[in-house]
Amino acid sequence: MTALLNNIVEVRENIQKWKSDKKTIAIVPTMGALHLGHISLIKKAKEIADKVVVSVFVNPIQFGPNEDYDKYPRTIEHDKSVCEENGVDIVFAPAPKEMYGENTVLSNTDLTFVCPPYNIVDCLCGKTRPSHFDGVATVVLKLFNIIQPDYACFGQKDAQQLFVIKKMVKDLNLNIQIIPCPIVREQDGLALSSRNTYLSSEERKNALTISMALKEIKKLYSNGINDTKILFDTAVSVLDKNLEIDYIEFRDFSTFKKAEKAEKNTLVAIAAKSGNTRLIDNEIL
Ligand code: PAF
Repeated sequence: MTALLNNIVEVRENIQKWKSDKKTIAIVPTMGALHLGHISLIKKAKEIADKVVVSVFVNPIQFGPNEDYDKYPRTIEHDKSVCEENGVDIVFAPAPKEMYGENTVLSNTDLTFVCPPYNIVDCLCGKTRPSHFDGVATVVLKLFNIIQPDYACFGQKDAQQLFVIKKMVKDLNLNIQIIPCPIVREQDGLALSSRNTYLSSEERKNALTISMALKEIKKLYSNGINDTKILFDTAVSVLDKNLEIDYIEFRDFSTFKKAEKAEKNTLVAIAAKSGNTRLIDNEIL
């Protein structure tokens, strides 16, 4: 039986009981609108821990003023039944007030924020979404403090987010193991995302060229081409002309520094807008 809780005190009572019974706990942090990508995280969490908590919280502080906070899909009934079907113990779905109190200005004038290092967030998604990762790191640390998990499962699709969280855990000495989980794709290759529901069929068709570009880069790399300029140009030639490319980046996935050449553990990340929908995808070589 999955409990749907929206109150921190109630969640903590359960956590305390589990801790005194020596149960291990895994958290799957989400913003809801659960799809097969999230289910793969839940399955992983079930595999490694005795108890699983899925948080469902559309976090206002990680959205910029002109982003899709209001429009972001909220499907708690669906999310609850997905969690029920997959044996989740608790769905933690707090209201913004529960997480941020009476503060009406959700910025660092009123709230304590976690600010990940500039070198990691001043690039890729952080460039066009300033303060996005401050919002992500802050809410994730709050969730970690509330749930006190042994493990936390994150999808590799949000590669920069994964890097930011791993860095926070290391730098702040959190005793939590971060479990990266592979990207889940539709049969034709489109990476699963809650934002895919925004796409018209034409936009979806164009968006598909993002995963095609990544696949092509992977193919060239396995044929021995490691010049990032050639790989970049290849991606541009595969990406549909109607997409608005935000970035095509090559980063060393252990340091997040720009990769001069593509090699093992290079993150190839693409962000592009199809219509009004901003999509991200990546491959780690
Ligand atoms: O990846 C997401 O869905 C969100 O950024 C997260 C990690 C749940 C924080 O709000």
